[in-house]
Amino acid sequence: MTATSQVAAVLTLKAPSRSGAVSAPAQRRWSQLNVPLTNWTGRRVWLVGASSGIGLACAQALRAAGAVVMISARQPQGVIDWAAQDSGVQWHPLDVTVPADVQATAGRILADGPIDLLVYAAGYYRAQRATALDVQDLLQHDRVNYQGALHVLDAVLPDMLARQSGHISLLSSVAAWRGLPNGLAYGPTKAALTHLAETLYMDLQDQNIGVSVISPGFVATPLTAQNQFAMPALLSPEQAAAEMLKGWASGQFDIHFPKRFTWWLKCLRLLPYRLYFPLVRKFTGL
Ligand SMILES: NC(=O)c1ccc[n+]([C@@H]2O[C@H](COP(=O)([O-])OP(=O)(O)OC[C@H]3O[C@@H](n4cnc5c(N)ncnc54)[C@H](OP(=O)(O)O)[C@@H]3O)[C@@H](O)[C@H]2O)c1
Repeated sequence: MTATSQVAAVLTLKAPSRSGAVSAPAQRRWSQLNVPLTNWTGRRVWLVGASSGIGLACAQALRAAGAVVMISARQPQGVIDWAAQDSGVQWHPLDVTVPADVQATAGRILADGPIDLLVYAAGYYRAQRATALDVQDLLQHDRVNYQGALHVLDAVLPDMLARQSGHISLLSSVAAWRGLPNGLAYGPTKAALTHLAETLYMDLQDQNIGVSVISPGFVATPLTAQNQFAMPALLSPEQAAAEMLKGWASGQFDIHFPKRFTWWLKCLRLLPYRLYFPLVRKFTGL
């Protein structure tokens, strides 16, 4: 086999039917870590933490592409009106820090049909530095950003494993990649989420369950509205959603954007600490 044909070689995987039974093989290239998600018609997507910002924009893009979207968060914001007008949009109120509610909500959704894609987008961010440590706020970050994901996984994974089908996508952040000033509370939870996604991928790759981690740079949402500094390479939520759909369509595990920003951060990640720490101080002034 030539190098070119090796690059073009495709791996044949078992793919599930809509009913959950294993049916016609789907294909992915050797370079694709997941089976590409391209045809959204009738696909059932549960987006947790999607009443605003990136999650909501993603729900809108997926719905426009033909998916049935089930949206959860604590406050409905614009979702209730949308759901009233469109039978392909469902509102399932949920606080991810209440495990019993997560189980009950997942149970209701699964009673109607399988979850083809789970997007965990629930997020909480307050800038914090160690010079003003607030342990309650540290723990709240952990409950929403990380433990909430664990509760949702606990609720949906058994069904995906039984069906040998589905895809789990965790919304992490470039803040996961290395420690940053003001990230005392947020950064470690996102690092945990990225680590979780990596481990999930390894454990689930033979179960025909896709896993991806999404690491946006700056996106203009309520979460970042509190930032007092100029955010480089700022995207709109709609641009972020388009990048996510592109990443799923190309079978990526590591979906990061915008590349003009994230590639720089990937390079910074490789530096030894004696260079990394002074460079961050130089760029941020902190
Ligand atoms: N914006 C950025 O620049 C950026 C960059 C990297 C990563 N991210 C990540 O992207 C994700 C989406 O954030 P965003 O920027 O779009 O901010 P956002 O508009 O504030 O969205 C956060 C979502 O999480 C929900 N949420 C918060 N606490 C929750 C809880 N206890 N239970 C259920 N839902 C909860 C919020 O709804 P309720 O408050 O109504 O519950 C909201 O729908 C987050 O995970 C964030 O960390 C954002």
